[in-house]
Amino acid sequence: MTLPSEVVEAHDAVDVIRAKRDGRAVPEPALRWMVDAYTRGYVSDAQMSAFTMAVLLNGMDRGEIRVMTDAMIASGERMSFASLGKPTVDKHSTGGVGDKITLPLAPLVASFGVAVPQLSGRGLGHTGGTLDKLESIPGWRAALTNEEMFAQLQSVGAVICAAGSGLAPADKKLYALRDVTGTVEAIPLIASSIMSKKIAEGTDALVLDVKFGSGAFMTDIDRARELARTMVALGTDSGVRTTALLTDMNTPLGLAIGNANEVRESVDVLAGGGPADVVELTIALAREMLELAGRPDADVEAALADGRAMDTWRAMIRAQDGDPDAALPTPRESHTVVADRAGVLTRLEALPFGIAAWRLGAGRARAQDPVVHAAGVDLHAKPGDRVAAGQPLFTLVADDDKRFDRALEAVDGAWTIGDTAVAAGPLVRERITA
Ligand code: URA
Repeated sequence: MTLPSEVVEAHDAVDVIRAKRDGRAVPEPALRWMVDAYTRGYVSDAQMSAFTMAVLLNGMDRGEIRVMTDAMIASGERMSFASLGKPTVDKHSTGGVGDKITLPLAPLVASFGVAVPQLSGRGLGHTGGTLDKLESIPGWRAALTNEEMFAQLQSVGAVICAAGSGLAPADKKLYALRDVTGTVEAIPLIASSIMSKKIAEGTDALVLDVKFGSGAFMTDIDRARELARTMVALGTDSGVRTTALLTDMNTPLGLAIGNANEVRESVDVLAGGGPADVVELTIALAREMLELAGRPDADVEAALADGRAMDTWRAMIRAQDGDPDAALPTPRESHTVVADRAGVLTRLEALPFGIAAWRLGAGRARAQDPVVHAAGVDLHAKPGDRVAAGQPLFTLVADDDKRFDRALEAVDGAWTIGDTAVAAGPLVRERITA
């Protein structure tokens, strides 16, 4: 490989690794160089693995995290929506089980004349991907050019599409490396990864849904809070108005876990119905987004009740060649589990149900694998609900009944039926601002 001598000679990767290994802050020029030289292939995977492990063990200060984020932004293109003539606001969720909130949220917020450029990803492991869910809709297309995205933001207001490969390519390479080196969990690396893409995307404002609990990336609320504070500070320092909600992901969101079934549930919300927790979180995030976009008095509930949000959803799906009226894929096989006693469902753990949906085919183990759009889990009861003996608790759905045994293994012991209800904490636990 031929690289300019200033890249090769400017710094030494081993010095950068040693500094972090010994708990020292890495000076700005060396850190910028490390990210750039890794992206170009001069710093090796082995060296970057050692560095990310040192970050996981010893952390980074706020200045280093900002430099890391800037360096990843600088590795690719930076979009701008300034010429749209309307405010832009985006939402990012750290991911959870049954988290389909982007689907009703983007058209709901856009129905108030605000542009929502929602660059989304595919699922990997037990957390689903927004694009996988939307691809259940016949004809719907995730890949848009920047020009198509602009035109749709202008005409419809909401776009949910795949992030182009030009945004923060350094993050793409680094994230794949972290995935196989046990270094995904480092807060400075998560924060810089997420925020580099969001800042490069060029949104004016951003609301973060940072989840904690068994189905979340961060099981512990204190670590989730630290991640949220770090990201809010990064966004604010970069001129993106940013707030975060800390939300409970101990139990799946809504009743549907999968792809097509999550689209159905989202459409129910847009039609003014849907499960209470999905409606609550959609409304809470919409209010946050609209406040940041300068519309604090927008009547979000009215837009769900009177069909405005649904009209925007239909226009958004059509603009990406989807048919909002087409039948969604239905599963060939199903297996229902019933309550073995009467009582109150007191616990239904998110993570095992996410793993079950994944094993049923709703998720993928490798980035190149396809997903089965009709597969997943349909819950019939949620914690707090009273159940009778023999009453259906949940149904596994798949295209192949051979998948049921492994899915049932995943959820073994994952729910409890007790005698009395246990008070649950609020879904939205905290709001974090700069
Ligand atoms: N999502 C991202 O985009 N990056 C991370 O590091 C973790 C979750």
